[in-house]
Amino acid sequence: MSITQQAYAKVNLYLHVCGRRENGYHELDSLIVFAQTGDLLHVEAADRLSLDVVGPMASYIDVSGPDNLVMKAALGLQKLCKTDLGAQITLDKRLPVAAGIGGGSGDAAATLKALCQLWQVFPDPLGLEELALSLGADVPICMKAHANHVGGIGEVITPLPPIPDCWMVLANPMIALSTPSVFKARTGGFTDAAPMGGEYTFATFIKALKERTNDLMAPAVQIAPEIANVLQALSVQPECALTRMSGSGATCFGLFECEKDAQAAEKALQKCYPKWWVSCGKII
Ligand code: C5P
Repeated sequence: MSITQQAYAKVNLYLHVCGRRENGYHELDSLIVFAQTGDLLHVEAADRLSLDVVGPMASYIDVSGPDNLVMKAALGLQKLCKTDLGAQITLDKRLPVAAGIGGGSGDAAATLKALCQLWQVFPDPLGLEELALSLGADVPICMKAHANHVGGIGEVITPLPPIPDCWMVLANPMIALSTPSVFKARTGGFTDAAPMGGEYTFATFIKALKERTNDLMAPAVQIAPEIANVLQALSVQPECALTRMSGSGATCFGLFECEKDAQAAEKALQKCYPKWWVSCGKII
């Protein structure tokens, strides 16, 4: 038996940093969505656990290191389910790493989901949530893989009414940014939580997003000034309704109401900036 699981790009449409816990983690207020572009994870039954990484971003992944989130997730699930079943895991790595779009977290979540199915194990939901959070603050939302409001350090997930149809173009200048260093570079106070609720049209959705910010953008631009060029390049694309950075960067996004405008922007940016990673997908 073999199973393929998508790990779509996680995007923070806005991100307010509302406080800091004693353990150093920050309290967040964020609307998180997923763009239908991302990594693919294949699992096949095997006697022991092993991992191969293929795809355009494979060379950026440390396959055998102790911090590899896919292997950590697989080992954590074996322990939680008290099983010694194995799996041959293949990660087709297409998203840039350390990019603010939850690549590693999405891969960890996809591993948990795919292996539960492969091994036919049904862990207690609370235990699975705890395992997900122990792997990383974004792993719980990546288990949901669709639009939700996120609070706490990433573990307080509140469902939302359906969001309007939107297309997204993602662009990364291929500069890896470490999340802790971006949080560390943040100066100033905290922003109030301003969760979005209710039903929106595309226009009112954009208006509500424009009233919010990504509080990690200024520190990220300080570390990687090229982010300002990415935002500028996205913002001049015809029909681009909003541009912003996701998470701790450096990936930025442009939002579009129509698929054809998003695809035209994707093509234009790929042509103009061949060294950047540019991809487009519907948001869910
Ligand atoms: O949980 P994860 O390993 O993804 O977090 C990486 C780092 O990002 C943390 O060590 C912390 O410095 C920072 N972080 C934070 N507050 C969050 C999420 C992450 O300060 N809510």
